[in-house]
Amino acid sequence: MTDTVPASGSVVPAANPAGAAAVSGAAASPALRMEAVRKVYEVGDEEVVALDHASITVAPDEIVALLGPSGSGKTTLCSIAGGLLSATSGTVTVGGRDITGYSSKQLSRFRQEAVGFVFQAVNLVPFLTARENLLVVDELGRRTGRAARDRADQLLEELGLADRRNNLPGQLSGGQRQRVAIGRALMNEPELVLFDEPTSALDTKLGEQVMELIRSEMKSRGTAAIVVTHDERIVHYADRSLHITDGHLDA
Ligand SMILES: Nc1ncnc2c1ncn2[C@@H]1O[C@H](COP(=O)(O)OP(=O)(O)OP(=O)(O)O)[C@@H](O)[C@H]1O
Ligand SMILES: [Mg+2]
Repeated sequence: MTDTVPASGSVVPAANPAGAAAVSGAAASPALRMEAVRKVYEVGDEEVVALDHASITVAPDEIVALLGPSGSGKTTLCSIAGGLLSATSGTVTVGGRDITGYSSKQLSRFRQEAVGFVFQAVNLVPFLTARENLLVVDELGRRTGRAARDRADQLLEELGLADRRNNLPGQLSGGQRQRVAIGRALMNEPELVLFDEPTSALDTKLGEQVMELIRSEMKSRGTAAIVVTHDERIVHYADRSLHITDGHLDA
């Protein structure tokens, strides 16, 4: 594995909920800044350069669409921005915190506190209800008990799922499942939400509804997002679009 990060003895302080307070002037910090990020995967003797000199800055309330052909590095970029993978080189800062040298323990905490993920394959827990799928995140996060249940219910209400909160994922439509996944990504009030092809499994109309929802949820919260898509039609729901080809971002 190339994902070793320097071991650092310190753990992210608990009293740093949104991850912003630790850095002075954090209010103006971009939601994401990646500088000259390179990611090399090693497969046997081969090296695959998935990202090369990728630099991107996302403002605190900005929605950026990320477009590019299959294999161009979109998921890799999101995974690095969200602390699921470490960059081979370059720097990554999210909401003013530099996660570049984070240990895996620090990254795990960072993911709970600062980012949300919505993947193409929605990945809900099949034997938990919609509401429980939101709450499961929070067992790892900051809120517990009553506060978590209230937040889950509020999000489900906003997402138009109040009357479906006790349904299992298998008892929901594709669009409803996608909305549960959006709710789950918002549970911990992240600074940055990473959507990896959130609409690709949906028909055009539902895809547009989900994009509208993503836009309104992000804008009403002032939360930044990167939305990976193959679909030029949903680009107008973003503030800006970026293209990536063979690991190179147009900038
Ligand atoms: N775990 C891995 N090990 C080795 N190579 C990988 C790994 N993950 C991705 N790659 C390679 O890195 C490159 C970028 O992959 P990535 O998944 O980021 O592309 P993508 O733009 O998300 O593609 P798609 O649109 O098909 O989802 C590809 O060439 C891919 O084969
Ligand atoms: Mg991908």
